[in-house]
Parts: sequence; C-alpha cells; structure tokens
Amino acid sequence: MAGKLIDGKELAKNLRGEIAAGVTDLKAKGGVTPGLAVILVGENPASVSYVTAKEKACAEAGMYSREIRLPATISEQELLDEIAHLNVDPAIHGILVQLPLPKGFDEKKVIDAIAPEKDVDGFTPVNVGKMLIGETCFLPCTPHGIIKLIEFSGMDLRGKHAVVIGRSNIVGKPVAVLLARKETNATVTLCHTGTPDVAAFTRTADVVVVATGRPNTLTGDMLKPGAVVIDVGVNRIPDATKPKGFRLVGDADFASCAAVASAITPVPGGVGPMTITMLLWNTLESARRTVALRRGF
Ligand code: GUN
Repeated sequence: MAGKLIDGKELAKNLRGEIAAGVTDLKAKGGVTPGLAVILVGENPASVSYVTAKEKACAEAGMYSREIRLPATISEQELLDEIAHLNVDPAIHGILVQLPLPKGFDEKKVIDAIAPEKDVDGFTPVNVGKMLIGETCFLPCTPHGIIKLIEFSGMDLRGKHAVVIGRSNIVGKPVAVLLARKETNATVTLCHTGTPDVAAFTRTADVVVVATGRPNTLTGDMLKPGAVVIDVGVNRIPDATKPKGFRLVGDADFASCAAVASAITPVPGGVGPMTITMLLWNTLESARRTVALRRGF
C-alpha cells in the first residue's frame, strides 16, 4: 500500500475525549446532562448495530441516551406522537430517527416532525436550509465528519478540486455544500448516476468522496496519483470464512485505490466512527444551547 490510512478511530477517539470533557463541564457548571433519544422502527440488522453503537458512544461520553425501539407494525401516527413527546421533553436535547424506516412510512413527514432545535442529525428542512445559506445550525454528521477527516489527513482543501460521487440527501449533496463553503473553499464536482464518465472527473481530483452504496464504484485507475480518498460505503459481502457470514467493504476498491492515493479511509474504521462522533458533538451543542438560553445569552 502506497497511501497512508486515515484513521477515523483515532480522530474519533481524540474528539470524543474533548466531548466527554465538555459533558463533564456542562454537568458541573450548567447542571445539565446532554440527552439523546434514538428511535429505531423495525429490526433492520444494520440499523440495529448502528443504534447500539450510538447508545454505547453516548454512555462513554457521559451522556444520557434513551432507546426507543418500536415494532415495524406501529402506525405512522404513533411514531409522530412519540416524536412530539420527545420534542417537549427537557431531558432530551437530540432526537434521532434511524433511517431507513420500514416500507409504508413517509420518511420526509417523520423527519419534518422533529423540532429543528433537537435535530442533531441535521436532516430537517430548517437545518438543511440553514446549512445551505451558511447560518449556524446542526451540520449533518457524516458530511461534517468527512470534512474533519480530510483536515486530519493533512490536506488543506482551499483551492483543491473535490469530486463527490453520489447525490444522496444524507451524504453526497450536503458534503458537496460543506466542501464548497468559503471556510473550506474547495472547487466541487458532484457526480451521480447521470454522469456519463465519472473517471474523467475523478482523474483531476485532489480528493474524492465516494458515497454510492455500491462496491468498486472507485478504482485506482480512476485516481490522480496522490489523491485523498474518503470512502463512505458500508457494504455487506457474503463471506463464509467470517464468523458473521459476511465482511464489510466500502464503495472504493481499497487495494487499487490505496496503491495510487496519498491517503485513504479504511472500511470499517474510517468514516463510520466519525458519524457517531459528530452526533455526540451536536447533542452536546444542543444541550449547551439550552443552558445558554436559560441564562439569557
Ligand atoms: N441511516 C444511515 N445513516 C444515518 C444517519 O446518519 N442518521 C440516521 N438517522 N439514519 C441513518
């Protein structure tokens, strides 16, 4: 491997240490314990493991977490009622509804029901709009974590060409917006399923963020030597030699990309730990705001 690994676990550990210190400080000086409510509807195995990891991370940071597991058979109205209660619960500073929801739920309507001041995922239209126009808001966790990872790799993004592959609302579109913000100042190309020749763009890129949910979307021959690669994909590949019967791969072909890139995130251990870290960050920030409001700042 030519390129160095961008160790998301290490960066996450450093930041979680800072967050835990912030939690201790807020408890002592503000008398408030940051609280996160995590709602999981149904039993999608990947979602169950994400939610479990989020709860564990909350506990490690000294935060309060409330797990709300609901069967896939509940009605949409029951879910909306649950969110309405959490919106006014003073012990809860962040509300997260794990996506995807089971078939039959209107995800937009459900996300829209979360109070924007508790939307620590940064998914509500209010927070998405504020991000777009550069107002203070909760930034979406994976895109925010990606910016931190690129900075951690040592790359100064100013004036660089960043190519994002994938235009999802959760990752592709917001990360393109964050990369292009004045304080980051990259020149951004957003490639998607309608892009006829993705490699023509990635070959001129200083940094490539790949978030398509498809293994082997990015291969080494598509990269400029020395590029930085951020692999957002988490794909389960059946593998009888593994205890769980599968292994995880990203959206980039790791071996060929690592041979050409100057730095690359592994899967697992790259973007994943940062998503949860930025969720804790937003939850702490939300709790801090309630203390500031109470004091009339
Ligand atoms: N599903 C996959 N990623 C996410 C995320 O960041 N937040 C939520 N709520 N659901 C997800």
